[in-house]
Amino acid sequence: MSLLEVAGLRVRPGDGRDLISDLSFTVDAGGRFGLIGESGSGKSLTALTIMGLLPPGMTASGSVTLDVPGMGRTEIVGAGERRLNRLRGRAASVVFQEPLTALDPLMRIGHQVAGPLRRIQGLRGRALREAVTAALEEVRLAEPGRIAKAYPHEISGGQRQRVAIAMAIACRPALLIADEPTTALDVTVQAEVLALLDGLVSAHSMALLFISHDLAVVSGITDHVLILKDGVAVESGAVLDVVNGPRHPYARELVDSARELDAALDGLNATDGGTR
Ligand SMILES: Nc1ncnc2c1ncn2[C@@H]1O[C@H](COP(=O)(O)OP(=O)(O)O)[C@@H](O)[C@H]1O
Ligand SMILES: [Mg+2]
Repeated sequence: MSLLEVAGLRVRPGDGRDLISDLSFTVDAGGRFGLIGESGSGKSLTALTIMGLLPPGMTASGSVTLDVPGMGRTEIVGAGERRLNRLRGRAASVVFQEPLTALDPLMRIGHQVAGPLRRIQGLRGRALREAVTAALEEVRLAEPGRIAKAYPHEISGGQRQRVAIAMAIACRPALLIADEPTTALDVTVQAEVLALLDGLVSAHSMALLFISHDLAVVSGITDHVLILKDGVAVESGAVLDVVNGPRHPYARELVDSARELDAALDGLNATDGGTR
């Protein structure tokens, strides 16, 4: 049984044009699945559908099920808010591109990280304070005491994304959705946050749905990928198969441009003028 099963998913706004058409894929418990596509291809809508967070006026049809040990199997499409709330944070969590969307600007970081720990794990008092510190330490934030007392605008973008990751994984979700988690960060910080996510997903045996426009990034962190174009899956399979033998022209384009970039970077790094 798959942890996440998306079958024949269709998402449309009020006026009827499909933004996602007949999308199907599965993510196994502990598996790592990449969703790739250019801006506007429907990646974030897919993530929002899985979390039951589609914007008002958008409707989903088809089926999205989460099957989590101890929580049973839940159909997300059409589920009520109470049902969805039980799943959020425990069955699935999401880290968005822009960490400020996950953070309340008027609340100290420590209080925000405490939120899911109090609500879902029922922690209070000293146990809660210790869990907040542990959650901040787990995402390698130095000086967790100082960070806990800070407001979001008082820390860096990379630190904010670490906080958002800490909140998302605080209650050990079975599935972590990372929607372009490093796209808004400085280049120097991107690799660090990616390595952090990679390590946390392994350490807690979470499944990962990793979303990006960047094939090189996705292929480094996942083992299966699906390429989305205009809301339609144009190719999917094991990362190596897709990278080595893309069939759809758009998939080929993505692979070629990733290769070109790679070769250009090699050229830049080479001291002997490049050997390939
Ligand atoms: N709230 C919304 N109302 C209407 N259209 C939307 C809304 N959100 C997204 N869309 C449209 O849905 C498509 C997919 O968006 P999205 O999933 O955010 O793309 P991606 O994350 O791949 O960049 C885009 O054409 C976008 O304009
Ligand atoms: Mg998006």
